[in-house]
Amino acid sequence: MSSSLTQSWIEREKKVHIQFYRRLPVVFERGEGCWLYDVEGNAYLDLVAGIAVCVLGHCHPEVVESIRSQAEKLMHTSNLYYTTPQIELAEKLREITGMDRFFFCNSGAEAVEATLKIARKVTGRKKFVAFTGSFHGRTMGALSVTWKELFRKPFMPLVEPVTFAKFNDVEDLRRKVDENTAAVIVEPIQGEGGINPASEEFMNEIFELREKLNFLVVFDEVQTGFGRTGRWFAKDHFNLKPDVMAMAKGMGAGFPIGGVGVTESVAEKLGFGEHASTFGGNPLACSASLACIRVMEREKLVENAEKVGGYFREKLFELFGNARGMGLMLAANCEKAFDVVGNALENFLLVNATSESSLRFVPPLIIGKEEVDIAIERLSKSVR
Ligand SMILES: Cc1ncc(COP(=O)(O)O)c(C=O)c1O
Repeated sequence: MSSSLTQSWIEREKKVHIQFYRRLPVVFERGEGCWLYDVEGNAYLDLVAGIAVCVLGHCHPEVVESIRSQAEKLMHTSNLYYTTPQIELAEKLREITGMDRFFFCNSGAEAVEATLKIARKVTGRKKFVAFTGSFHGRTMGALSVTWKELFRKPFMPLVEPVTFAKFNDVEDLRRKVDENTAAVIVEPIQGEGGINPASEEFMNEIFELREKLNFLVVFDEVQTGFGRTGRWFAKDHFNLKPDVMAMAKGMGAGFPIGGVGVTESVAEKLGFGEHASTFGGNPLACSASLACIRVMEREKLVENAEKVGGYFREKLFELFGNARGMGLMLAANCEKAFDVVGNALENFLLVNATSESSLRFVPPLIIGKEEVDIAIERLSKSVR
């Protein structure tokens, strides 16, 4: 794995990159299905999927073909003009999200930024309520509603006022929202915070408080969206419709694209010049996303996430004595999780830890039981 070829790439990287990332010592060159191949030719079973992004696995031929044929026709025009894939994608999203109107951008953080601006514009209020354990991205607005002090502190002052309420604590939520609240922003299942599902009672309370106080409810479905939890969106587990929803990650099957969905009544209060993106919703990204959704529908991958996710969760429980999460957004507590990640790499298995005590599993939604069995066998060898 860590031969001189790998080492030489790593040394080159260190000279030319700002060292924001602590990467594992492997250099990837290509991928196919649930497998990634390094520059030495080793194959790794991928339970990370580019952090919950590669829902169809790597380089799905239909997505590749859609990008290739769209690139030959038209890649970019800006949003000064209409383009057909963008309109088709919004129509398709209306079907699968239940939201009414859309804005496109290029990443999760950008989608969250847009949701915060929308909430301020629509309510005329300033304050945001977010939750302990939340993660919404690294740009200034998204960072402001992200819980971890370590991420926020060096960049203060951020967007204010933001109040953090305890996740899944109805009483604390009641204390923190008021008539100055523009929005409550919540992940239905916290991802980076360690795969923590919101309780039904907690989610319902957010909506009851909205009735009284008229803030907007923003769901951050950047990680939970596009089939990850065994439903198209995690909101479908709760049967709730937010005012605003952020999405990205799985949306383009690996091609960068993000989006915001809003209700009709929110959309009616928004207009020209209030937000924009040069690249957002370009034909290439929208074609990739349309292909991604088409394959997900045809191959019933949302159902697969639920079915294989249930099997995977049972196997994790057998191995670790605990497991949590929904669909293929799973986690298990264990000791020295970062060491397990390193050991797993040596066993040609890619897993990820959200803390020293918690492993996260967000594989491609195409994964089958056979691959789960391989993963569990390699994982058991990695828990030393
Ligand atoms: C829930 C959630 N929101 C927002 C983001 C930020 O997305 P991006 O890294 O694409 O900016 C992430 C990324 O992990 C996320 O999990």
